[in-house]
Amino acid sequence: MPNYTERTHLCGQLRTGDIGARAVVCGWVQRQRDLGGLVFIDLRDRTGIVQCTFDSENPLLAAAGDIRPEYVLCVQGTVRERSSKNPALPTGDLEIDVTGLDVLSAAKTPPFEIDDDTRANELLRLEYRYLDLRRPQLQRILRLRHEITQAVRRFYSDNGFYEVETPILTKSTPEGSRDYLVPSRLHKGKFYALPQSPQQYKQLLMVGGVDRYFQIARCLRDEDLRADRQPDFTQIDMEMSFVGMEDIMSINERMMAYIYKKVLDRDISLPLPRMSYKEAIDRFGSDKPDLRFGFELKDITSAVKDSTFKVFSEAGAVGAINIDGGAAKFTRKELDSLTEFAKGLGVKGLAWHKAESSSFAKFLSEEELAEVQRLTAFAPGDLLLVIADGKQALVKSCLGALRGECARRLGLLDGNTEAKFLWITEFPMFEYSAEEGRLVAQHHPFTCPLDEDIPLLDTDPERVRTKAYDMVLNGYELCSGSIRIHDSALQAKMFELLNFEPEEMRRRFGHLLRAFEYGVPPHGGIGFGLDRIVMLMAGTENIRDVVAFPKTQSAVEVMMGSPDTVDPAQLAELGIGLV
Ligand code: AMO
Ligand code: AMP
Repeated sequence: MPNYTERTHLCGQLRTGDIGARAVVCGWVQRQRDLGGLVFIDLRDRTGIVQCTFDSENPLLAAAGDIRPEYVLCVQGTVRERSSKNPALPTGDLEIDVTGLDVLSAAKTPPFEIDDDTRANELLRLEYRYLDLRRPQLQRILRLRHEITQAVRRFYSDNGFYEVETPILTKSTPEGSRDYLVPSRLHKGKFYALPQSPQQYKQLLMVGGVDRYFQIARCLRDEDLRADRQPDFTQIDMEMSFVGMEDIMSINERMMAYIYKKVLDRDISLPLPRMSYKEAIDRFGSDKPDLRFGFELKDITSAVKDSTFKVFSEAGAVGAINIDGGAAKFTRKELDSLTEFAKGLGVKGLAWHKAESSSFAKFLSEEELAEVQRLTAFAPGDLLLVIADGKQALVKSCLGALRGECARRLGLLDGNTEAKFLWITEFPMFEYSAEEGRLVAQHHPFTCPLDEDIPLLDTDPERVRTKAYDMVLNGYELCSGSIRIHDSALQAKMFELLNFEPEEMRRRFGHLLRAFEYGVPPHGGIGFGLDRIVMLMAGTENIRDVVAFPKTQSAVEVMMGSPDTVDPAQLAELGIGLV
């Protein structure tokens, strides 16, 4: 029987209570120190590190001298108290006095040191992801993700939900992104689409009488990537029947509170606060506001509309944020860089005002300036940032982005562990897509309008609000969901308003419309971004930290090397020629 199958302890779990015990531990060499006549090997497994000591009389001393970092060892010995303790390590009071040593696998010198303080660039670490995964930080996150997933399963299962899997090879679903396509060999010229979410399947499960469904579901979207997006990501997806908005919001905020308590032992007070989409945009310039800091948006159009300063008076919309106490912290150089930041968002410039200097005070009358200061509650020491533009929405989104940028530059978020949850409700049903020259669904076309807004569908569709809700945490959208339309006539009308041709409508959604003709329960649900939840609970801003094998910003998985070319024979079999 090899020694390693007789493992008695995990490296990081040994404690002073184990002193005197025989231990067999396995793992990777973090560090070997040869002091001549005394060798220390720090052995690492997923629980942590333990020191293995070879004293001068130890017959294994010479063998220990040959050990290199990342060798895989099985070490046998006796746990004893250390003479020089290391309070920084949970196992720092003890060591293993080694009596047996097996080298299970030698290792080349790794391309970077396996250490949380690593300076190695991310691309190199992604290429050797299996080495990077050995770092304590990534081990901690993998474990956290596992615990969150288990808690989610427990919660929904305890509340009567069935976990049901839905197909990965499927048909295009309209979540508003581009599909990944998979060519069919048996049906040449036809394609499967990978699911952007299980949206239609989960609605069909409700028609199928499942009543309460959930799934930890892989979703695939060919979209531009950001720090919080991956092309393949995971949703906690759920749907339920015979319920209204309140039921769904209530059960899902309880789910969130449950995992925070279970995994982080943190209390979230329920019910979560709510805010309408309009209020969020007006006050914070974003439908996912970060409520950990103020700097709320103020509309100052009325104060400057008759001004001789044309940048303001001719703009149409002028808005401001007051970075209170920010005057001293934002120097001219900082303001120039904020101006560049704002221009990057599509506005022509940024005006600013402090008590001691100002980019626009000289262009305003005394009364106008006083009114601006009154509307923004400006006081000496504060910094006002002002944006003027013809497009009200752009003024708001730009001020919203500046709000966050200033908070970051002021360090308000560093080490800030507050969790400011809220629900955003009353989303508009449609938004006008300048690109496509038509109305598009803001969420997806199965979202139910608010009852009182249904008449507006015929008269003023852009004012129609929906039974949709997003949960937001610290500036991140954690989930979206809605009550769905369960009336086939209303559903057909929605497709019409979205300008789907009847033929296209039949081809893309015929199955759903047909299903809805055979008895459909009122239903609704939600999809959470699991990766984002893990990010926020782990305290990282990089989604790649929470995915075992992530892709880069350009959607490349560098370790395996995907995407990749394929054999011409494979293409021929699919009836595909490359142009
Ligand atoms: P939605 O498209 O808003 O809704 O997605 C739900 C949640 O999934 C997360 N998310 C992502 N996470 C990582 N990378 C991505 N590329 C990515 N895209 C989305 C977000 C988002 O809030 N079927 C509906 C849900 C429903 O109506 O039930 C849906 O998919 O956290
Ligand atoms: P200009 O007329 O371009 O020299 O701008 C005069 C002042 O107005 C400068 O302080 C600019 O930064 C500011 N400014 C220009 N365009 C805008 C804008 N769209 N919003 C806010 N301030 C602006």
